[in-house]
Amino acid sequence: MSNRKIAILLSGRGSNFLAIHEAIRRGDLKAEICCVIGNVPEAAGLQSAREFGLDALCIPSSGVERAQYDGKLLEGLRPYSPALVCLAGFMRILSEVFLGEYAGKVINIHPALLPAFPGLHAQRQALEYGVKITGCTVHYVDRGVDTGPVIMQRPVEIQEGDTEESLSARILEQEHDLYWRAINRILEKIN
Ligand code: GRF
Repeated sequence: MSNRKIAILLSGRGSNFLAIHEAIRRGDLKAEICCVIGNVPEAAGLQSAREFGLDALCIPSSGVERAQYDGKLLEGLRPYSPALVCLAGFMRILSEVFLGEYAGKVINIHPALLPAFPGLHAQRQALEYGVKITGCTVHYVDRGVDTGPVIMQRPVEIQEGDTEESLSARILEQEHDLYWRAINRILEKIN
């Protein structure tokens, strides 16, 4: 039986989640968002999910030890049986507890051409290094920080006078067009 359910995990504004939601609405992405889980109660992305009438769960992570938190996430996801868990600005590292159960089913988007500039402030890292081309990457999540196998990438040229803000905005535009394509590709492969 085909499973095109995707779960979204986020921590903040959720613009990638909105772009995925919009791609589904347009009919470009054949998937169903089964739930949106946030680890920060005030995450704007959670509020948007509620407004769309989606199942939006807040599982606060503050002060919760990693393995214990991942257990709570697994519990939250269990009723939905998603085919894919899509991290969209989810600012937590997932442990073996989580990745063991969702092996090969967790993906992330990162604002650089991995393996260059993993971790936080990837756009600032690219500017500071002085590269001429950076971009964004959708990749599988493994035990490392932004180290899993690459699924799709999109280059973005750095322009004269770019600031962290201007570069981040141009990368984000590409993220919004890349993530749903990568999800589509994976769902086609596994269904
Ligand atoms: C994006 O730049 C994404 O690449 C990174 O976190 C940011 C999330 O932005 N992982 P948003 O919450 O989707 O707007």
